[in-house]
Amino acid sequence: MSLLRLSGINTFYGQIHILQGVDIDVGEGELVSLLGGNASGKSTTLKTILGLVRPRTGAVEFAGEEVTDRATSYRIARGMAIVPENRRLFGPMTVLENLEMGAYLKGGGTKEDYERVYSLFPLLHERRGQLAATLSGGEQQMVAMGRALMSQPKLLLMDEPSMGLAPILVERSFQIIQQVHQSGVAMLIVEQNANMALSIADRGYVLSTGRLVLEGAAKELLEHEDLRKAYLGR
Ligand SMILES: Nc1ncnc2c1ncn2[C@@H]1O[C@H](COP(=O)(O)OP(=O)(O)O)[C@@H](O)[C@H]1O
Ligand SMILES: [Mg+2]
Repeated sequence: MSLLRLSGINTFYGQIHILQGVDIDVGEGELVSLLGGNASGKSTTLKTILGLVRPRTGAVEFAGEEVTDRATSYRIARGMAIVPENRRLFGPMTVLENLEMGAYLKGGGTKEDYERVYSLFPLLHERRGQLAATLSGGEQQMVAMGRALMSQPKLLLMDEPSMGLAPILVERSFQIIQQVHQSGVAMLIVEQNANMALSIADRGYVLSTGRLVLEGAAKELLEHEDLRKAYLGR
């Protein structure tokens, strides 16, 4: 069954037609990668899913319900969460306070929420009193994911998790993503790092100037001639 379904999405910024007839499915517990170069419409897709921008036409269905006209807060309450581009932590706040913000909309984190996040990321428990701004890039990534997981989402959206991380941390970061996925959370990961994103995904989509140009099983996309030429550098 599909958890998230975008059908026939057309999103505009003013007169500019950004997303052009985008159809995307994410199944329960599935890990799906959305690939594409700079300015191809990846972040706009995530914003459309969350309701931060509204499509002019098309539908967003989530957890068995059409949410196209629903507020972002409603979608989050129904089980969406995001790790935004560049993580957007609250730098002058502690790790613990950042995690608490993730549970804000549901009225605060329970003991179980913290335990779940700390069992995935034991380091965050050790560092719970440290200011987020003083953490390394990889550690900040854990805080951003932990914060998103505090609301116990069904679907975690991630906008370019590898951006700005040293190569060794990119690998570590994708291991963490896999770990979160294995805990049962469906994920839609937006990436320019196609190799890494497809290596852990079940399926993938490729956007090019607002249109989907390729989709399929991650294994098949990794071998696809066009994708190899355009993104994989081999
Ligand atoms: N708020 C906005 N107003 C006008 N144009 C925007 C806005 N946000 C993004 N765009 C444009 O929409 C296109 C897609 O942007 P985006 O979805 O951020 O791409 P990506 O995340 O793939 O880099 C780009 O050409 C970008 O300049
Ligand atoms: Mg983007």
